Amino acid sequence: AENMLWGGRFTQGLDPLMVQYNESLPYDRIMWKQDIAGSIAFARANTKNGILTAHEFSEIERGFVQISKEWETNTFEVKPNDEDIHTANERRLGEIIGKEIGGKLHTGRSRNEQVATDMRLWLRDELRKLDAQLADLVKVSISRAEQEIDYLMPGYTHLQKAQPVRWAHWMLSHATAFASELQRLREVIRRVNRSPLGCGALAGNSFRIDREMMAKELGFDGLLYNSMNTVGDRDFAMETMQWGSSFMLKISRWAEDLIIYSSLEFGFVRLSDAYSTGSSLMPQKKNADSLELLRGKSGRAFGQMAGLMMTIKGLPTTYNKDLQESIEPLLDHIKTVSDSILIATGVLSTLTVNPEKMIAALAPEMLATEIADYLVRKGVPFREGHHISGRVVQLAESTNVPMDTLSLAQLQGIDARFGPDVQECLDYERAVEMKDAIGGTSKRAVIEQTAVLRKLL
Ligand code: ARG
Repeated sequence: AENMLWGGRFTQGLDPLMVQYNESLPYDRIMWKQDIAGSIAFARANTKNGILTAHEFSEIERGFVQISKEWETNTFEVKPNDEDIHTANERRLGEIIGKEIGGKLHTGRSRNEQVATDMRLWLRDELRKLDAQLADLVKVSISRAEQEIDYLMPGYTHLQKAQPVRWAHWMLSHATAFASELQRLREVIRRVNRSPLGCGALAGNSFRIDREMMAKELGFDGLLYNSMNTVGDRDFAMETMQWGSSFMLKISRWAEDLIIYSSLEFGFVRLSDAYSTGSSLMPQKKNADSLELLRGKSGRAFGQMAGLMMTIKGLPTTYNKDLQESIEPLLDHIKTVSDSILIATGVLSTLTVNPEKMIAALAPEMLATEIADYLVRKGVPFREGHHISGRVVQLAESTNVPMDTLSLAQLQGIDARFGPDVQECLDYERAVEMKDAIGGTSKRAVIEQTAVLRKLL
């Protein structure tokens, strides 16, 4: 243990399994760049307050430039005692510039503030990428909605045929949910992007380090203001995964709709070969595996979120090693969400729509509300109109005649207030166009929605 960074007070080495159990380098090496940027900012601030000379700073910087090259070219040599990315980088710095100067870098600094800094920097950049990817998914939905605005389909409640709607309206229903997630994501980014640097192990920094200066150099939007909270706080990871879970829930419902719509029974859409797979046994099968995985991976995302919350619950104040367990789920969570957005975007942009199948799935009973509305316009109270319309549906059902082909005489047999103009309301296009108030499925209202969504991007 004497060789370890913290080995001074130790007389015995670690159990070999403990070495593995303890180390985080296999996964936190992904943050090498952030770790180096944080160290340079820290050294610069420690130069400003006189802890390091200008020469020492430039040596440290030179060392890190070389270490960066090593990581970039995959030539960084990991040594057995490299516990995590922080110790690995600092060990290598000492080898390059000598322990005399290298040993001064960590003055007043703790890995507790370092790991929180690295994670926030890494996460901020990843979340910004997700922001752009998610905006793309919404854009693809909007442009498809615009191109395919004329297609009508059955709208469902309880998965039962309810009222005719525009296919574009369905598409925007999901795009609207995605856009809400985009807005939430932007709020999360603001809270992630705060600087822990200068908080020390828990109590703060004794060398009057300029925290504002370091935060600015690293592109943080501001500081975190309580050092004890800062080193023990993983809200940024938790909130990210809460957001990610919420997003995956939305994408899972979207996928579920498309799984149903792509079944032979519905046949509204066909997935491109690029996002489907076949069966090893049944030659005719084309399965929507991409969509099923979108639905399935949401379970993994929720689990990561719940897992971290359970890890943190009950920890004493400030840093505990349990917090190291926040890194792996976070890395996988980000990859899962990012891949899911890209797959969903791919599926949506290559999907083939079958508008004839959608029209064929419309049923005259879906116009029953139009009949009730017709009676309302004749002065009949809606409740009574609803009842009369229900009897029309029943007559169609019991005589086995499509509702829109009942004769006027048959209708008037139910209620004398039916006139020849009732025929007009037995039209899907008209039913859709009647829903013209804001947010509805008329062409005008749907186009308005595309404009509202575009503004959010
Ligand atoms: N690898 C550690 C982590 O991810 C860094 C912090 C270690 N600090 C400590 N006091 N053991 O949490």
